[in-house]
Amino acid sequence: MTDIRDRLSPLEKRALLTLKDGEMDIDEIMEKGGFSSQVEVMNAISWLRSKGLVEIHEDVRTEYEATRETELPERSILKYMAVKGGRVTLDEVRNAGFVDASEVSVGMGWLKRRGWGNISKEDGQTVLTITDKGKEALNALEEDEVALEKLRKGEQIDPKMGKALKSRKAVKEIERVERSAVLTDEGRRVLEMGIELKDEISQLTPEIIRGGKWKEMDIRKYDVNAFAPAVYGGKSHPMARIIEEIREIFISMGFTEIEGDYVQSAFWDMDALFMPQDHPAREMQDTFYLKRPARVEIDLPQYIEKVRAVHENGAGISRGWGYQWSLEEAQKGMLRTHTTVNSVRYLAEGHEPPFRVMSIGRVFRREAIDSTHLPEFHQIEGIACEEGANLRMLVGLLKEFYSRMGFDEIRVRPAYFPYTEPSLEVEVMFNGKWLELGGAGIFRPEVTETFGIKYPVLAWGLGLERLAMLRLGLKDLRELYNDDLEWLRNAEIRGA
Ligand code: PHE
Repeated sequence: MTDIRDRLSPLEKRALLTLKDGEMDIDEIMEKGGFSSQVEVMNAISWLRSKGLVEIHEDVRTEYEATRETELPERSILKYMAVKGGRVTLDEVRNAGFVDASEVSVGMGWLKRRGWGNISKEDGQTVLTITDKGKEALNALEEDEVALEKLRKGEQIDPKMGKALKSRKAVKEIERVERSAVLTDEGRRVLEMGIELKDEISQLTPEIIRGGKWKEMDIRKYDVNAFAPAVYGGKSHPMARIIEEIREIFISMGFTEIEGDYVQSAFWDMDALFMPQDHPAREMQDTFYLKRPARVEIDLPQYIEKVRAVHENGAGISRGWGYQWSLEEAQKGMLRTHTTVNSVRYLAEGHEPPFRVMSIGRVFRREAIDSTHLPEFHQIEGIACEEGANLRMLVGLLKEFYSRMGFDEIRVRPAYFPYTEPSLEVEVMFNGKWLELGGAGIFRPEVTETFGIKYPVLAWGLGLERLAMLRLGLKDLRELYNDDLEWLRNAEIRGA
């Protein structure tokens, strides 16, 4: 309590002392407390509220403001009729020019509705004639007109009338918030502890220090709990941060990052990985084949015949798939379906083992969008090649990666991919459940020997989005990409 008291600013003290006499609205506090503006009062009482010393009551009232400057159009027409002896044609009204052209028909409608005039047709002309009621109306304003006058003078009107005038677009509605403040029990207690109003230094200047004034005056204490508006600085997207974090983990494990294009030939995305040309994943409904380019020239063409042979008869490595391989099928242009294409291209480029490379990139599959599927997503891909590399080492690398990401328990289960043997599914434990996060395995000799690689190649392709969801506590994949500013602003900065 004394702490709170000692950290009060002069404005807060002033507001507290003023409120000693009971609940007051802002203007009253301003006047009695000698504040210089409503803003000053609002600041003081909001700070006091955040410390629990006052309560602020808000009362919302609807008020009206005249938006129409001139009289209503039917009144203008009525006056014109009177000047013209009680009878005018519509053309005359139009040409007279003191009723805005756009308001003539509305004015006539109301003239009739108020019973001020009759409208008839004579010789193809529309004629208006004044009624007795119209004559009377010349001497007195109608209720709504009176209300409009009042508003122009700054007085308020009955809400029913306000609504009616609003529908004629003559007024607009404004919500006014009336605020008042009252001391809480704590506020009263602080007050009873005694509050001294004296000048304090709230900002130290060189003059105050040099001139020695700081010795005579109190220096205001900081209140680190004081309310302050949130300031949101720029920062990278949570996904970008996670990607950076993953990159750093692999780099610290001795990996080098590689990249590749989104557009690939089926040859590199599939054939080079010993995926037979009738494999279901190669179908149109799973893969985005391209119209332009519909064909992609196969780079590193020295491998075409080797790949053909390994598919058709195993090229002395195995018996192959035993079908007739088609170059045309392999040349199809497509969006890469996995980042494993980066890895196999790396193998084909002729690097000397040992090597460890990884890539993180976008891949494309024809999926209907829902909470767990997107047609574009990212994979975390890697290969490690060295003499004697084995399954245990593969599992070790995956464990190491996930544990650095904060997942301590992982397990692998048997799986199938055409290009690995053995093949694994990687699962991590999260909130008591096993979640599948990706595939892994050791590349088959049909893949490695084709490219002249002599040692085992450990390989994996892990889902990034799922990992990010676990990390960020999201339930729906789409939330990662929906540009919700509120979420982006509040997303925790962790790791990188
Ligand atoms: N490419 C596989 C996929 O997209 C993952 C994988 C990569 C499996 C490397 C084994 C080896 O699901």
